Amino acid sequence: FEEMYLIYHGLVLPRQSYCSESLRFAQEFTFKDDDIVVVTYPKSGTVWMQEILPLVLNGGDLTPVLTIPNWDRVPWFGTPRFALVVDQLASPRALVTHFPYHLMPPSFHTSKAKVIYIMRNPKDALVSSFYFHQMAVFLEDPGTFDEFMDKFLEGRVLFGKWTDHVKSWRHTELGDRIMYITYEEMVQDLPAALRHISGFLSRNLSEEAIQKITEQCSFNTMKANAMSNFSLVPKIYMDPDKSSFFRKGVVGDWINHFSSVQLARFTSVIQKELEGESFSLPWSLD
Ligand code: A3P
Repeated sequence: FEEMYLIYHGLVLPRQSYCSESLRFAQEFTFKDDDIVVVTYPKSGTVWMQEILPLVLNGGDLTPVLTIPNWDRVPWFGTPRFALVVDQLASPRALVTHFPYHLMPPSFHTSKAKVIYIMRNPKDALVSSFYFHQMAVFLEDPGTFDEFMDKFLEGRVLFGKWTDHVKSWRHTELGDRIMYITYEEMVQDLPAALRHISGFLSRNLSEEAIQKITEQCSFNTMKANAMSNFSLVPKIYMDPDKSSFFRKGVVGDWINHFSSVQLARFTSVIQKELEGESFSLPWSLD
């Protein structure tokens, strides 16, 4: 376990992506007022937003998504790569993170940087994560689905418990600096999601641009885009023979994985942890 992961403020982070120097850099990093931060719990549509955001910001010019790998286009806050590339980004800069709210650095709080928080039904995030652990060689083997569900519910997975992550980003003092969107809304009506995002970022998008971005950010187009589909990553890190990063891209695949006993256990743990919360989930858990 310790070979693969480091523990940062109680959270499990993959050593392949983070080290103490890069995390220190992140804590000392100076946010700019026009920065935009994509925040997700793992497997909730992060890479999708790394495709969408640059296109919304530039009005649909495809150059960045056809020439720059997603991890340099919208870099991962807190990684060594972030420290290397962030100064080369043109403003407004788009970055991405799985950090909980309380681990964002002081300058994030004092800046006016905006946040797009994507939430996905945790049952589907769990299934997606299970397959991702099979293909990502730098992560622990997930074991059986039942074993992995236990780890997920106990928070012994990357970035901890789903409920803690959601609660953390629901209780912020960010006011209108944060926009919430769900993976499910994006699947159901991507053009509407694009209008929502462009409105939040005060960008006007023509209908033509919306159509173009919708096509470029479709599951199949992204799966075929070498700058987005991780085919540039050596097999020793991600093994596409085990599972594809662009696996299914659908809502509700959990139904093919959960037994009725697992569903009852999962629902009761999540519901209990969200008891008394002022926000409600956009989908039913059972
Ligand atoms: P599945 O494993 O359920 O297919 P993240 O980027 O946060 O790791 O999330 C990965 C999940 O988002 C995967 O889910 C992946 O297929 C899905 N995804 C990525 N791009 C997508 C798109 N354009 N449309 C629908 N789903 C997408």
